[in-house]
This record gives sequence, C-alpha cells and structure tokens, in this order.
Amino acid sequence: MGQGMGQGTVLCPREMYMDIAAARQTFLQYASRYDLNDVKIRLKADHTLRVEELCRQIAQSLGLSQEDTDLACLTGILHDIGRFEQVRIYHTFRDAVSVNHAQFSADLLFRDGLIDDFSDAGICEADRSLIEKAVRLHNAYILPEDLTDRERMFCNILRDADKIDILRVNRETPMTQIYDLPEEAFLDSEISDGVYADLLAHRNVDRANSRTGVDFLMGHIAFVFGLVYPESFRLVREQGYLAKMLSFESRNAATRERMRRIREEVETYLAEAASHGSAYAGRRGYNIPREMCFLSGDDSI
Ligand SMILES: [Fe+2]
Repeated sequence: MGQGMGQGTVLCPREMYMDIAAARQTFLQYASRYDLNDVKIRLKADHTLRVEELCRQIAQSLGLSQEDTDLACLTGILHDIGRFEQVRIYHTFRDAVSVNHAQFSADLLFRDGLIDDFSDAGICEADRSLIEKAVRLHNAYILPEDLTDRERMFCNILRDADKIDILRVNRETPMTQIYDLPEEAFLDSEISDGVYADLLAHRNVDRANSRTGVDFLMGHIAFVFGLVYPESFRLVREQGYLAKMLSFESRNAATRERMRRIREEVETYLAEAASHGSAYAGRRGYNIPREMCFLSGDDSI
C-alpha cells in the first residue's frame, strides 16, 4: 500500500483538479488485462464508463463543484473494479455463489493497494476514505445510518448512477441470458407475495423474496424506488427502459393484474419524484441494524 491510511484529519490541498481522464485510462488499462472479447468483461467495462458519465450528470444537477463532480466520477470508475477478478476466479457475477463484489472491489483497492495505480488521478487522503465507502456500499440494500451527509451524498450519487445503467443493461440483454432461465419462466410465472408487497410499499425488492422469473424482473423495476435525486428520475424517464420493462406482457392472468397495479404505482411515483426527488429512497427501513444492511444487496449492480 502506498500512502498510509493516516490517523486523524488530512485535508485535500486541492491545488489542482483531479485528473479523471488519467483515472479512466488507468481503468481501461486494468480492464484490458482481462479478455475484452468475453461478453461479461466487455459488459462491465462499458457499464463502468456509463456509470462514470451518469455520476457526472447527477453531480452537476446538484450544483457540485468541479472537484466534487470529479470525485463522484471517480467512484463510478472504481465501483465495480472487482468484477474482473470475480469473473476470472469464479466465472460468475452472482455474488451469492462467489463474493460480495462491492466489498471485494473495495478490498482490492484499499486493502490490496490497487488504488495506488490511480495515483496519477491526484487522489488525496480524505478522498480515499470517501471513495472506499462509496464503493463498499454501492450494492447495499440500505445505507447504514452512521454516514456523514457528505458520505451519504456520494454513496447516493453512485448508487443512483449504477441503478440507472443497470436498467439499460437489463433491457438490452435478453432476460433469459441475464437470469439463466427459459422464456416460459418469465411468461408464465406469478409475482410472489413478498415481491408484490415490496413494490406496493415502494421498496427495493428484498432478493430473499424473489422466487420466480417474473420476480427478478419486478426486482429491477423496483430499482426506481431506491433512486434518490430528481435528475436520476429524469434520466430514467428519458431512457425509457423502465417503461418498456413495465409493458412486459405475461401469459399469467394473476401476474397481468398485479402488473397493472404495479404500473400505476411506478408511473405515479416517477412523475412525482422527477420533480421532488425521493425523500425516502435510500433511507427506508433505516432502523435495520447495520449488519443487516449488507445481507440483501443486489448482486446484479
Ligand atoms: Fe456493482
């Protein structure tokens, strides 16, 4: 590890801007050590660059300084860096059968010292701890309560950006491939009660409740309830992927009826949140103990 993880407060001198282009270059060099012809590897490299751009858009919508906008972009560049080793070692992105990829990414960067490869970007000591938290928590079901407002903001920018891009990935990649299930598993299955209850309560779906093919689809639709910032809702509407997911036509009558209700809920929620943001999102269920926050993270993001 390069610089020590200093005791006490270390201020960022900010004599110069962070060099995001250098960080992006370092990331691409790192990714190129893996097989970029592998669909999984390519997907994660593309996803990373899109998340970086979405972080920029959200940060700018919040009126953040250039320095803080760069910092948000850097969290986007680094957030999934452990995905490459995950797929090399375990041949899967499924955290449940391998590692929690957010923790793995943070460990790779800050325990094993990969962050030092990014020193050309000009990362100061105080930023390191903030970046580590944002990376480590990017897939947590709920953020822990003991974050500062600044930490929470950077976590939320990254989490929003990540979810927005995952909606794209899920729309552009056939569901049968994403979930490794046959077409019938989506067309004929029912929405489980727990998943339906989560959606009607405007909650991200607890993956422990997901059992059927259509449950997985609902889980991704529910990402909208985890979004925080008005710009994120605007971006989701602009993308149009969520609307397409909501128009999924089930062959199961009970599912069609539940989907009709879910569509109403989501559309109303989106319209309101696009102008106000979500006061609840990212904080719902905040009385859940800290250790529980990590139990039901979504391993697809
Ligand atoms: Fe991730």
